[in-house]
Amino acid sequence: MAESMKGLHRTHRCTELSTANIGEIVTVMGWVQKSRNKGGIIFTDLRDRSGILQIIFEENDIGADGFDKAYKLRSEFVIAVVGKVEARSGAVNENLATGQIEIRATELRILSEAETPPFPIEEESKTKEELRLKYRYLDLRRPDLQRNLMIRSQVATLTRQFLADEGFLEIETPMLCKSTPEGARDYLVPSRVHPGNFYALPQSPQIFKQLLMCSGYDRYFQLARCFRDEDLRADRQPEFTQIDMELSFVDVDDVIDVNERLLQKLFKEVLNIDVTLPIQRMTWQEAMDRYGSDKPDTRFGMELKDVSEVVKGCGFSVFTGAIEAGGSVRGINANGQGEMPRKKIDALVEFAKGFGAKGLAYLAIQPDGSVKSSFTKFMTEEEISALIAAMDGKPGDLLLFAADKNKVVYDVLGNLRLEIARNLELLDKGQYNFLWVTEFPLFEYSEEENRYVAMHHPFTMPMEEDLDMLTTEPGKVRAKAYDIVLNGTEIGGGSVRIFQNHVQEQMFEALGFTKEEAYDRFGFLLNAFKYGVPPHAGLAYGLDRLVMLMTKEDSIRDVIAFPKVKDASCLMTDAPNVVDAKQLDELAIAIAKQEEEE
Ligand code: AMO
Ligand code: AMP
Repeated sequence: MAESMKGLHRTHRCTELSTANIGEIVTVMGWVQKSRNKGGIIFTDLRDRSGILQIIFEENDIGADGFDKAYKLRSEFVIAVVGKVEARSGAVNENLATGQIEIRATELRILSEAETPPFPIEEESKTKEELRLKYRYLDLRRPDLQRNLMIRSQVATLTRQFLADEGFLEIETPMLCKSTPEGARDYLVPSRVHPGNFYALPQSPQIFKQLLMCSGYDRYFQLARCFRDEDLRADRQPEFTQIDMELSFVDVDDVIDVNERLLQKLFKEVLNIDVTLPIQRMTWQEAMDRYGSDKPDTRFGMELKDVSEVVKGCGFSVFTGAIEAGGSVRGINANGQGEMPRKKIDALVEFAKGFGAKGLAYLAIQPDGSVKSSFTKFMTEEEISALIAAMDGKPGDLLLFAADKNKVVYDVLGNLRLEIARNLELLDKGQYNFLWVTEFPLFEYSEEENRYVAMHHPFTMPMEEDLDMLTTEPGKVRAKAYDIVLNGTEIGGGSVRIFQNHVQEQMFEALGFTKEEAYDRFGFLLNAFKYGVPPHAGLAYGLDRLVMLMTKEDSIRDVIAFPKVKDASCLMTDAPNVVDAKQLDELAIAIAKQEEEE
């Protein structure tokens, strides 16, 4: 039977007590981690969000009734204990913050009993994630998740403090919006008052924050919930949180400066890690050429090398064919992997094919300098030596080459170097490599839609020196856009915005919108720009991704209290779900018959 806590007041969290409190009478409350009876003495580990504290129950101190009650304690019971802080009588536990003390209980109340949980509440749980997510309220009791959410809270608080000190105003923007153009699919909300009309949940506060600049708020930020209906991955959720900001009268360097100092503060205060400023910058083109990725992981080398010039006249038609078709041949050198077994090389070839490679050519330099290779039979000795030299190949190295369109070559080798680094365990989660990637292309060509689409979003400012190519050679225009990359994850991105209407109109033209279409979708922004608009720029972090890396987790699910799974459902609440016919009627919505599943 549950008792009341009437008359008791918690004096400390478990780990707020230490040897400094010896002799004090304290009241602690929390969950029973475990309780064991050792011949007339009951040892109970009490847990709260701060950690664990040992309680000792002996009949002499607590009386017969109290001792009977202590005897009933089971894991996850919620209890209140009054007792005296003492130095540990038994062995000191070096693993616990409170390992040198214990509480000798004089009063015990069972505030809530507990059924046996479906899995043990412990660190580094071996329980399947599916089961843990179904009982997320129990999963969230585990110390690792509690630590993650405490760090997340700390990051949010420090961010607010820092940005407020820098003159940013925290302003909320609507959740019920008109569709914003971030490129993913929208989540729609039907309107009851306007049957047949829908709100879109924001993919980001992009347009609103630009309007706030038009309205003179100068510096804005928000911890903004964003919604995107896209395929989920370990670093993608349908709803996620951005640290979103926008600044007036600034250019690229100003945005970078504020954000470097923000990152420096967060890493120092949360992890005691010194981020050296300035953070390295690299243009998009250099990132692609050296790492085959616009979010390079610079914790290890294995950089791409373009060997097109070296092999363009050789007898291997896979190489020469790719070059003649306007592509390239590039390689990476997996140092010291020359004796990788054939099976593992085959696995790498399969991996490469998953990224669109037609094949992967390899050349393994044996310790004696001879080569094992899938293609050198088509080459002369001189050509082979030149290729090895171009790749800095030494005896014992493994050289891997992709020949194709540049986009495919980058993608294949960029992912291959990560795969090899993972296989060889080269990635140290305790090392934090930051990188700004700048000068992104303004557009990318969409084969699907047969037109250029904005790489970041349609409000991104082209680089001044590329402006005259905007309508003639859009593919070559670079943008004043930047991403902040941490250990190969894009943790944030932003840009300087277009603020002149004529540039914005050229931009829409390049994107294939007519003036009418542009005004129809973004009229309120284009109109706002007619009434005096400051030059402005901004950036947004994925807060979940940032915290995932700071907590060394592999998935953002581990830093979100109630995440969704791959098919965007919530295993705990069973959302999404059917609704009452009456609710649908009010919204004037009829559900089309679903095709029977096979
Ligand atoms: P962008 O689309 O690059 O920019 O988003 C900014 C950052 O948000 C994070 N992010 C996500 N995190 C979790 N799940 C997702 N589905 C997801 N999608 C994005 C990433 C990304 O870097 N309005 C612009 C910013 C600006 O220009 O100021 C924007 O939203 O870490
Ligand atoms: P093949 O002559 O098709 O048997 O190919 C010889 C070698 O070249 C094999 O190791 C293939 O995996 C490799 N290869 C085939 N296509 C490509 C390509 N596009 N890029 C790199 N290597 C390739």
